[in-house]
Amino acid sequence: MLKSVKPLEPVIKWSGSKRSVAPQLGQLFPTANRYFEPFVGGGALLPHRPSREAIAGDIIEELIDLWECIRDRPSETADAYEVRWLSLQREGHSAYYKIRDTFNSDRDPHDFLFLSRTCVNGLIRFNGSGDFNNSLHHTRPGISPQRLRRIIAQWSTATKEVQFVKADYREALAGVRRGDLVFLDPPYAGTKGRYSKVPFELQAFYNELDRLNTIGAKWILTFDGQAGRRSYDSAPPEDLYRARFGLLTGNSPFTKLMNTSIDGVVESVYLNFDAPAESLYRAQHRRAKGTGSTGEVDMQHRLLLV
Ligand SMILES: C[S@@+](CC[C@H](N)C(=O)[O-])C[C@H]1O[C@@H](n2cnc3c(N)ncnc32)[C@H](O)[C@@H]1O
Repeated sequence: MLKSVKPLEPVIKWSGSKRSVAPQLGQLFPTANRYFEPFVGGGALLPHRPSREAIAGDIIEELIDLWECIRDRPSETADAYEVRWLSLQREGHSAYYKIRDTFNSDRDPHDFLFLSRTCVNGLIRFNGSGDFNNSLHHTRPGISPQRLRRIIAQWSTATKEVQFVKADYREALAGVRRGDLVFLDPPYAGTKGRYSKVPFELQAFYNELDRLNTIGAKWILTFDGQAGRRSYDSAPPEDLYRARFGLLTGNSPFTKLMNTSIDGVVESVYLNFDAPAESLYRAQHRRAKGTGSTGEVDMQHRLLLV
């Protein structure tokens, strides 16, 4: 079991990261032969996976290149960040925009790491031509190279047996077998198209869930939800899952950027298996002040409902 007591600090800052709820979601992970995470992003759940062997995928190729750098060449990756960070401290914002231009022509994953750590709100955003277009976060200097070096080393160890794949989620899941666990954190229905030009089609996604059910693999899905008054509500068909509950995941980086008000995000978590009641309880009651729980029990599905 890889379940860590203390969550690792994020190595890649990623929009929509599950970092704040990773320990609770990790509580729900059953034992499994292998772990699959086809929408890996910043990989907040990877340290909580129940098996060493894992396959983690994402549609953003530069992100997967970066994960491989972190896993295989941690010192080189830390050095590359330090060089860029020092030029930012020396030259100011022009250094950021030079690195952004270089990234958009060469797609060097080290540039991508630097941009993710220094852009506004850590929001990874590409324009219609596929160019990274977020600006520098003027008021923050970016994490210190010494600190990031330690974090990179920790993640390098934590991902040693993870195979990273540049792939659409269906391709990443092609080898799933009975006894495997799949954690799914796809883009919000309300923000689809943000990460890639390939549209995220709900029906195709539901078909994939159905396929996993037929195989006998277990899955946990974080999906539709609410951010303040906005609702990203596109619940999967009820016959696909066994349990559902709501989790307060924090503030949406998108609404933070677009609105003056900051909205709290409640996400729905779906499981295609009966998790032990104790795990569900612990997942819901994470925070002493009670902010982690929004649910009540739905007897029909033996679950906790938003
Ligand atoms: C909500 S984020 C995942 C965040 C991640 N759980 C974390 O904690 O950082 C969704 C991810 O899905 C990826 N993605 C979007 N469409 C995809 C697709 N069709 N196949 C694979 N990955 C996709 C995005 O690039 C993004 O990294």
